[in-house]
Amino acid sequence: MIPYVSFFQDSKPFHPPSNLALKIPHFTGRQKECEEISRHLTSKGTRIVSLWGSPGFGKTSVATTVGHLLQSGGLPVFFFSMRGLRSKADLTSRLLSFFRRHSSKTQIPQRMTIDDELSLFLSEISDEFVMILDNADDLLESGALNVKEDFIQFLEVILSQVENASFLITSRESLEFINVHFQGHRTVRIRPLDESFSQSLVGELLPRATTTDRSKIAKICGNVPLAIKLLCSSISEDNAQPCQFLKELGESTGRDLVDLLDKPDYPSNLRLKFLMKTSFVRLSLPEKEALVSLSVLPDDFKLSVAAAVLDVKSSVEAKKVLHRLRRKSLLDSSCKPDLFSMHKLLLSFARERGQNEMKKTMLNSKARMSTYYISLFEKLNDHFLTGHSMQAFIDFFEQKQNIIQSLVESSSDPKTCVVAFGVLIKAEVFLDSLFWCEGENIDKLYQHAAEVAQKFGKSVFYSRGICQLASKKMDDGAQNLQEALLLMGNSAEERVLKVTALQILATYFRFKEKRGIALELYLKALDECRALGDASLLVIPPLEKRELKTIEGEKPKSDS
Ligand SMILES: Nc1ncnc2c1ncn2[C@@H]1O[C@H](COP(=O)(O)OP(=O)(O)OP(=O)(O)O)[C@@H](O)[C@H]1O
Ligand SMILES: [Mg+2]
Repeated sequence: MIPYVSFFQDSKPFHPPSNLALKIPHFTGRQKECEEISRHLTSKGTRIVSLWGSPGFGKTSVATTVGHLLQSGGLPVFFFSMRGLRSKADLTSRLLSFFRRHSSKTQIPQRMTIDDELSLFLSEISDEFVMILDNADDLLESGALNVKEDFIQFLEVILSQVENASFLITSRESLEFINVHFQGHRTVRIRPLDESFSQSLVGELLPRATTTDRSKIAKICGNVPLAIKLLCSSISEDNAQPCQFLKELGESTGRDLVDLLDKPDYPSNLRLKFLMKTSFVRLSLPEKEALVSLSVLPDDFKLSVAAAVLDVKSSVEAKKVLHRLRRKSLLDSSCKPDLFSMHKLLLSFARERGQNEMKKTMLNSKARMSTYYISLFEKLNDHFLTGHSMQAFIDFFEQKQNIIQSLVESSSDPKTCVVAFGVLIKAEVFLDSLFWCEGENIDKLYQHAAEVAQKFGKSVFYSRGICQLASKKMDDGAQNLQEALLLMGNSAEERVLKVTALQILATYFRFKEKRGIALELYLKALDECRALGDASLLVIPPLEKRELKTIEGEKPKSDS
């Protein structure tokens, strides 16, 4: 490095003017984050604070607000956007052009590199100062070779040569990797606003919104300030009553939320959809597939189900994928182990990708999710049948919605229905016990499955009919059994089932005093026994034709 100090020995201290952007309009909340960042930046041990979080959640706004806070406390702050930068040289040049513009120095040694020149200007600032490097992800995720190494080197050089300098860096990606190089690095993650601040932001933007409207708007927007601003501006633009607008919004199913909030004519930094898209396109293909696959899950999910939908070999591998997406702020992790979440706006964006551009990924992921929940249900049924019924109930109700949905969806898909039917047959008693007070729910499930079974020409629910008869739901049971009979084939196994079902029905109709039908069923059972060559299967007493005083249906002689 050139010994530049000698060139400016006699010069006056350098005081470049502030270049901070104006304060953020309607800036709300974030006191905790702003205080924490300010505290770090003014403490001795910290030289770098990185502020990271999901696209459009408010990092630049918080950094700008912190900048104003520090500046009002007398600390010089310089703000540099890193949008559009591709290399460390671009970054150095951007900073340098600002300091050059405000410097009175005319004599710069000719052989000096731009890095040295920048250090030279910064060393001339006599006070402590903070440089905000905003939107660093544009550079760090640009895909340029060695860009992260070069960035670290840039920080290293400035921090070692300019003792007064500290950095506040904003980025969508976590800059945890900086810890490996620097001791004085603190990270702060920007999450959605606290609910009360979201609601007060709605109140400021839409004074005619009632308390209920405020809470609804904040909730729809997942407490993300940009989403709130966009939705409130749509409501104002529409001149509608907020509650009317929200009602119509609720009815417009089929379009995802991020799409609904999008205004293509707005500047790109105010279009949440655009911001999310820029993060999405930077992902590798496996990361894109992982994000879309995870979007079939609810917004909170456990590692085990994530591992199932991601189609990875082990939960260790799944964890790696999840943490990679977390570091890119597309997921969040909970303080509870192995619990993750995807913010509802990101979820809505990822689902839209899956529905339009990555359909196959989405379908495969849905199928894997159903398989997971059906096999979980099968396991719970085994626990129930082997005496651990209370735990089975608890575990079932934790996942009730997902299990029922998976059973319904799987039984509608020809590729998965056989497995689903198989599980449903074994689990009738379990389901009956789970829904003893809301029987119509399982009836609906079985009815749906029976209809689909019928469509696929499969007869699997004879045992449902038997169960219903046994639990005194006589008419429903008889009807299910009759429907099942219609679909039974002529394999030996199905003939045995037919004989059983026919005899149960014959007994039922005899009991109902419909002797004609009972006789017909009995005779059919007799025919089946003949076809099977096994008379011992016919166990009910023969029917008498009273007027003829004859016994109808002669039982074939047993083989033995
Ligand atoms: N706390 C807040 N109060 C009010 N408005 C806010 C707040 N935070 C963010 N906004 C609004 O949301 C918009 C987007 O926020 P901002 O640009 O800070 O997000 P970002 O996280 O930096 O986005 P990106 O990921 O693209 O860098 C801002 O222009 C501002 O209008
Ligand atoms: Mg930003």
